[in-house]
Order: sequence, then structure tokens, then C-alpha cells
Amino acid sequence: MKEIPETTIKLTDIKDLLNAGYTLLGKLREEVQAPVVKGKFFNQEIIAIYGKEAAKVFYDPKNFKRQGAMPKIVLKTLFGEGGVQTLDGKEHQHRKSYFMHLMSPNRMEEYRQILDRNLSAALTEQHGTFELFDLAKWVFFTSICEWSGINLTHMSEAEINELADYQISMISATSPSLTNQFKGVENRKKSEKWAQSLIKEARENPVPEKADRALYTFANAQTLTGDPLPIETAAVELLNIIRPTVALTVWAALMGHALFSRNDLYQQLKEHFSTLQDAFIQEMRRYYPFFPMLPAISLRGVEVDGYAIPKDSWVVLDLYGSDHDPRTFEQPDSFMIDRFVGRTKEISYDEEYEMIAQGGGDFRSMHRCAGEWITLHSLRVFSDQLVNHFTFSIPEQDWEVPLNQFPTFPKSKALLYKE
Ligand code: HEM
Repeated sequence: MKEIPETTIKLTDIKDLLNAGYTLLGKLREEVQAPVVKGKFFNQEIIAIYGKEAAKVFYDPKNFKRQGAMPKIVLKTLFGEGGVQTLDGKEHQHRKSYFMHLMSPNRMEEYRQILDRNLSAALTEQHGTFELFDLAKWVFFTSICEWSGINLTHMSEAEINELADYQISMISATSPSLTNQFKGVENRKKSEKWAQSLIKEARENPVPEKADRALYTFANAQTLTGDPLPIETAAVELLNIIRPTVALTVWAALMGHALFSRNDLYQQLKEHFSTLQDAFIQEMRRYYPFFPMLPAISLRGVEVDGYAIPKDSWVVLDLYGSDHDPRTFEQPDSFMIDRFVGRTKEISYDEEYEMIAQGGGDFRSMHRCAGEWITLHSLRVFSDQLVNHFTFSIPEQDWEVPLNQFPTFPKSKALLYKE
């Protein structure tokens, strides 16, 4: 086995980090001309890996653990402390099962219907120029709350908007901007307070017919030893449903980019909608940057692409790089609407390491995203409504999707005009 080459690029320079954005790890690989690269991030040594074979090694729970791998700022903003993302082994599988029970075909169909109704109503009401980003944020937040059994009827529009904004702010907080980080920490605290009050209320006033809703599922959830989940942890897990669903706002705006910044994809999709819809969605998830990388700590010496990774190494799997890996994808930097035709089901329902925008592996036993099916239903509803049910004209705007912003979306937030 070969020794891992070390980059000379200094990752302690925050400006370099900001400017390279999603392409940072690719740049490091390019510099050392190897698929595995070692570097220093502040005082921490990291090893970056990428691609289908690396993902397979990364997701094997015998090789890597998650506990202690996530930087503190990510726990204080994006994920929250004590959530499913940070657990290993039996504890992880037990906690994950609460999420996966919520994702049954019947509950997914309910979600689809709620989102479809709310999006259709929001688009019908809309006249003149509007940001698809803002409209989507409202629709996702209200829809996922409805699906989760959370009642928003006593809240004003401004309060609902504020809560929806907090969800996006927790994601933006993982960017290197200190202002975003500060805001994200504050907004996570406020969101957790809201979620804790919901869990408390659900525990005090159980509603048996709503037992299968996310709110009541986490209010009633137990630890591995049979104790009720601490209220703080139950709230973190409830937010693990709400926050990432609102994050789909970003993909709605990126869908706006795919469909309306150029005309050919829109036309192809409209003409062959039933054949191309799911392939378009999978290619969108592959092509556009979203979740950049994932950290873990090696439990034993492992081999990736012929390089030896020692035990106790801090390793990051480059998701963006894997989805643009020329060893796996032909012309990885082109949007090919028919790339996944005939393969859309295996990509999103089976154990998977090739297209890993939302992580890879197996849903139940590994850390793969619990919300992939909510994501697919959401993008199906959005593509159907945008292409088949409404017509828009497209105002002048800045369609640039900057690669040095996290999360990233078109600069003008996908402006559309409707009569
Ligand atoms: C905006 C689109 C989304 C993206 C890009 C995304 C991405 C990811 C990624 C990269 C992971 C980490 C996988 C790993 O650690 O190996 C993850 C985990 C997770 N996601 Fe998502 N996700 C999205 C939407 C959702 C939705 C809609 C939900 C819930 C309704 C959700 C819930 C979760 C949960 C609970 C985990 C932790 C799984 C575990 O640790 O076992 N995500 N997601």
C-alpha cells in the first residue's frame, strides 16, 4: 500500500477555504496528483477521500465511527447535539429506526399530497415577479409541520416566516463566515426552544390518533435502555425532520436554475415528462453542489484506492467530488437529463455508493440520509407543478450559482413572473 501524499496548500487560511468552496478537496487532489490526500486544518490532520470505492469503505461501520468526528460548530448549528448523526452501532440503529418508520409508503404519499396542495395554492395566489426560493421556503415549512402533526394556526405569518428562516440559517452557519455562525447558533437555540415546547406539550397531551406523526413519534421515543428520550434530544430529532425539509428550498431554487436559466432542459422534460422526471431529479441531485463532505474517524487501518489510512485518522468523504468523479461519471460537469434513465429506483431505494448527494450505503443500518424519499417526493411535486401546471415568464436576473457559498443557489434566488 502507498503512503498518502500531503498537500502544501495551507488550509488554515480562511480566505483560501472561502474561495475554493466546493472544489477545495478537488484542488488538493490535483496538487498531489492522487485520489487520497492529507492536509492540516488548523491543528487537525485530515485525510480526504472520494469516489464510489472510497464511499463503500467509508460507510462500513467496521471501518469508521461518527462519534467525535463532527466539528463542534456543526453540532451547535446544523445538527444539534446528541442527534442521530453522531451515534454509532446499536444506538444509531435504534434511533434511526424512528426516522425510517416515519418514511413508510403511506406516510410518503400523505406528504406528497400535502406539499402538492400547498404548492399549488401558493403558486395560484402568486402574481407578478417572485422569488421561487422564498415561495418554496414557506411551502416546505408549513407542509412539513402539517405532516409532522405541528399546529401552526395560532401563529402569525411573520412568526411562521421567522421560524422558517431559522431553519435556513442553521445550515448557512456551517460556512466559514463568523457572522453566519453566530446567527446560526442563536437561531438553533430559538428553534430548539420552540421544538422543546412542542415535545413537552405532546407529552402532556398525547393524541393517540396522531401517534405516527413525527412530533408524537419523537415525544414518545425511548433510549436503547427504555428511558424516555431527554426532551432536548427529542427536540433535536424533531428538528432533524423540519430543518432539512426546509433546506429543500435550496434545491427548489436550483431546479429553477435547471429549468429556466436555459430552455432545452425545460422543453425536453415537458415533452417526455413521465420518462424523464425521475432521471432529471437524480441528475439535479448529482450535478448541483449541496452537502459538501462528511467526517468520520477510522476504527482500524483501512485501504482506499491503494493508500493506507491508519487507525484513528480523521477522514472526510468528499460528496461533491464523488458526484463529479470522472472515474464514475461520463462528462461529470455536464447536466445530462437522461443519465439515470432506467436506474432511478436503484439509486434511491437500494444500498448505494455511486451518487451520494445525500450520503450512501443502506438507509437503516448506515448513516445514509433519512429524508431521501421526502426529497424525491418534494422534487417530483415541484417539477410537476413548475412544468405542467403553471406558466411563467423569466425576468432578467443573475443566474450564477457561486461555488464558494454554502449552501449555494442562484444569486437572484430564481425569479419568476406569473400573470
Ligand atoms: C435538502 C436535501 C437534503 C440533503 C442534501 C441531505 C443530505 C444529507 C447528508 C449528506 C446526510 C449525511 C449522511 C451521512 O452522515 O453519511 C444526511 C443525513 C440525514 N438526513 Fe438528510 N439531506 C436532505 C434532506 C433531508 C430530509 C428532507 C430529511 C428529513 C425529513 C433528512 C434527514 C436526515 C437525517 C435524520 C440524517 C441522519 C441520518 C443518520 O445519521 O443515520 N435529510 N442528509
